[in-house]
Amino acid sequence: METKIYSLPKEGLEEVLQKAGQIIKDGGLVAFPTETVYGLGGDALNPLAASKIYEAKGRPSDNPLIIHISELNDLERIACDIPEYGWALAKKFWPGPLTLIFQKKDSVPLKTTGGLETVAVRLPENEVARAFIKAAGGFVAAPSANLSGRPSPTKGSHVVEDLSGRIEAIILGDDARIGLESTIVDCSLDIPALLRPGFISPEQIRELTGDLIEGSIHINEDEGPKAPGMKYKHYAPKGELYLVEGSGEEIISYIQRSWQDLKEKPQRIGILCYEENAPIYESHLTLPLGKENEEKVIAASLFDALRRMDRESIDIIFSEITAHSSLGDAIMNRLYKAAGFKRLKAKEGRKLF
Ligand code: TXA
Ligand code: MG
Repeated sequence: METKIYSLPKEGLEEVLQKAGQIIKDGGLVAFPTETVYGLGGDALNPLAASKIYEAKGRPSDNPLIIHISELNDLERIACDIPEYGWALAKKFWPGPLTLIFQKKDSVPLKTTGGLETVAVRLPENEVARAFIKAAGGFVAAPSANLSGRPSPTKGSHVVEDLSGRIEAIILGDDARIGLESTIVDCSLDIPALLRPGFISPEQIRELTGDLIEGSIHINEDEGPKAPGMKYKHYAPKGELYLVEGSGEEIISYIQRSWQDLKEKPQRIGILCYEENAPIYESHLTLPLGKENEEKVIAASLFDALRRMDRESIDIIFSEITAHSSLGDAIMNRLYKAAGFKRLKAKEGRKLF
């Protein structure tokens, strides 16, 4: 299949929206920018479109999709039994990087929800995204627009890399401002539950809801999946990623020693580090993600850096990034999964090889 590429703002927005919207109405797939990550959109009310999404991504079909809407009024067309606190969250944080889960209405096919009686809904902030959803009929099911298992796409070029030839069209717009997928809150229970950490923090949610059930965000393999998607291998770069833990100095010295040990070996080494520390490291590839106190910058550059490691054929990646805030927790959640939960204690100085 030849994938049409619509580049904004080079091509006229109105015309792009009209064409892209029609593709969705005809049952096809279009990738589009949002403030979190790029989405791979299909008609949420058409079960065939959901099947195509799973196929294009190479994703298991029991993993439910988020339905994207363009205005709050459309929520009740797909969701019911919305609790007070659910309305409060929607009104406060939409449009924005928050996904809410409610009981679904019959209008939503089980194919879209992976067989669940609940539905995940998000009203994105990105204006191109909202205009596209409207042009597409109002209900766009969209997972992140990456091949299953690869880092989520934060730039149009990431989507082109993964999905060219597999979907009808890609709208190339702005880079994702946030760069981590939305926070997910389950609102189908008496007490809200955090299913995926993101830019909207647990503190911000609690301010409105009082309560919030929060599991450990450093989910490990033994724990059952909360959002079904959490059980799949995610974000993984091709190289082996190790998260180094300890005090700042211990981490630096551990990475330096490991790098020395590996110097004579053929493996290519990469380091995910803070901008301040980049000059300290010598390696095949040092990727500074941002300054230690600029977690928004780190969040926005993380997935691009993981993809860059792949492009540079890096075999072993050390990360010195640690959490300092709730956004830091969301970053670490992605890093833990990308690393397949491999951590190294810098203090023990255990040799890796
Ligand atoms: O920021 C985002 O949320 C992006 C953009 C495109 O909006 N989308 C995204 O979709 O990250 P995806 O499919 O990669 O992740 C959706 C997550 C999965 O872990 C899925 O299991 C969970 O949401 N999910 C969807 N519907 C659910 C439901 N009814 N109950 C529990 N979890 C659900
Ligand atoms: Mg995803």
